[in-house]
Amino acid sequence: MTVIAVLGAGKIGEALLSGLLHGGHEPGDLLFTERYQARVEELTSQYGVRGVEVEEAAKRADVLVVAVKPQDIEPVLDELAPLLGPSSLVVSLCAGLPTSLYERRLAEGVPVVRVMPNTPMLVNEAMSAISAGRYATADHLAVVRDLLSHVGQVVEVPEAQQDAVTALSGSGPAYFFYLVEAMIDAGILLGLPRALAGQLIIQSAVGAAKMLAESDEHPVLLREAVTSPAGTTINAIRELEKHGVRAALLAAIEAAKDRSVELGKAHDED
Ligand SMILES: NC(=O)c1ccc[n+]([C@@H]2O[C@H](COP(=O)([O-])OP(=O)(O)OC[C@H]3O[C@@H](n4cnc5c(N)ncnc54)[C@H](OP(=O)(O)O)[C@@H]3O)[C@@H](O)[C@H]2O)c1
Repeated sequence: MTVIAVLGAGKIGEALLSGLLHGGHEPGDLLFTERYQARVEELTSQYGVRGVEVEEAAKRADVLVVAVKPQDIEPVLDELAPLLGPSSLVVSLCAGLPTSLYERRLAEGVPVVRVMPNTPMLVNEAMSAISAGRYATADHLAVVRDLLSHVGQVVEVPEAQQDAVTALSGSGPAYFFYLVEAMIDAGILLGLPRALAGQLIIQSAVGAAKMLAESDEHPVLLREAVTSPAGTTINAIRELEKHGVRAALLAAIEAAKDRSVELGKAHDED
C-alpha cells in the first residue's frame, strides 16, 4: 500500500485524510505533520492517524502532499530539500505555487504534481485540477488522480491553465455562496423569515446542482424550462440582464485570474 503524508493538516489537509480513510486507506498508511501538538492530538484521536516530524514523513511516505498555506511554504521547502530524491512524489495543493519553485528548491529529479482543489473536498465533492511538473510522469499523475478521486472529481490540465482553474473552480464555491447569501437577503426583503428563506434557497441550489450534474442538458435549456412566457422568471431575468450580472461574473472571474497570475509571479524564476 502507498504511504501518504499530508504536510499541514488544516482544512484541506484534514479533508483529504478523512476522504482517504473513507476510501479504504488504512490509518497506518497515512501520516501528517502539524505545527502544534494540540492539533496533532485532535487529529490522531479523531482519525487514528499519526502526526510525525517532517524527517519521518519524508523517509516513510511514497507521496508527500503539501497542504500548508502558500505563505508558509519556505520553511517546508527548507526542511524537505535534503530529505527527498527522485523516488519521492511531491503533490502541491498550494494555490499559485508553480512546480518550478519546488524543482528549483528540491534535489534534481524529484517529481512534483501541482493540484488546484476546492473546499467541497470537505464533503468529498472537490473539483481538483492536476498538472505535471518537469519530472512527473504519467504514472505519477495516475497516482495523484487515484488519490484525489476519493474526495471528488479530477481533471488534468496544462500548468499554464492553473490560474484560470484557480479563478473558476478554486474560488468558484465562494461565488455560489455569495449568490445564495444575496438570494436569502431577497427572501428577507419579501418578508420571509430568514430560516425559511435559507431552506428555500439552499434546497433550490442543491436541486439545481443535481440537475446540472446529472442531466445532459445545457444550462440554458434547464433555465428555459423554468422561464414560461410572460411568467415570473422572465421578469427576474430581465432585471439580471439590466444589472449586468453576466458581465459582472465575467469581469469578476477575470479579476480572480489576474490576481492568481500576480501571486504566482512572486515565485517566478529568480
Ligand atoms: N481553502 C481553500 O478554498 C483552498 C482551495 C484550493 C487550494 N487551497 C490550498 O490548500 C492549502 C491549504 O489550505 P487550507 O485552507 O487547508 O489552510 P489551513 O487551514 O491554514 O491549513 C494549513 C495547515 O498547515 C499548517 N502548517 C503551516 N506550516 C506548517 C509547517 N511548517 N509544518 C506543518 N504544518 C504546517 C497550519 O498550521 P497553523 O494553523 O498552526 O498555521 C494549518 O493547520 C493552501 O495552500 C491553499 O492555497 C485551499
